[in-house]
Amino acid sequence: MGSKTTRGRLITFEGIDGSGKTTQLKKSAQYLEQRGLEVVVLREPGSTKVSEKIRRILLDPTLEISDLTELLLYEAARAEVVEREMRPLLARGTTILCDRFYDSTTAYQGYGRGLDLSMVKKLHTIAVGDVRPDLTFVFDLPFATALTRRGKNPDRLESQSKAFFRRVARGFRELARSEPGRVKLINAKPSIEKIFSAVTRELDKLLRLS
Ligand code: TMP
Repeated sequence: MGSKTTRGRLITFEGIDGSGKTTQLKKSAQYLEQRGLEVVVLREPGSTKVSEKIRRILLDPTLEISDLTELLLYEAARAEVVEREMRPLLARGTTILCDRFYDSTTAYQGYGRGLDLSMVKKLHTIAVGDVRPDLTFVFDLPFATALTRRGKNPDRLESQSKAFFRRVARGFRELARSEPGRVKLINAKPSIEKIFSAVTRELDKLLRLS
């Protein structure tokens, strides 16, 4: 594929379940809309009819799914949202805020399940092509704290072991270390407002709002 054809921005929000990323995403959407930007919020897996159906399969706690199938289903859901939603929105100049994207696959299926990282990254490229995040937040929180923030009925992924989530969290930290320009590791322990001020600093820098 040639040079980047998109004009909008893609900002992604990542972290282990219970990290508080969705709260920060909602506040960010409000913040950017108040500054006059056209903002669309998406989530992964989800945001299209097909991807929401795939999401239901992936999170169903009564299903046993092999690791490779799980990986391919996440990438399939992603290909759908990229083609149907992200490409047209970016071409229109929209700022997209997405709750999770391919870094979740690297962390959960790569580090968490132990699937080969180079295969996982090849699949990202097949699923997204040149649609890459301009900025990614990783909300970093100890597993024990994240656990207290979760809902009552764990889904299939939330039911994984503490060791699994330790590996996932390590994966996210590795991503932040290897791509410091794009991936910002945010300490998710302080108050919502304190965390949000770290988030807005990065948003302002990217979008030159300050
Ligand atoms: P959510 O609960 O944050 O909406 O995410 C759905 C679950 O799917 C969450 O437990 C993380 C997991 N997940 C993966 O394992 N791989 C992925 O690529 C994505 C996007 C999510």
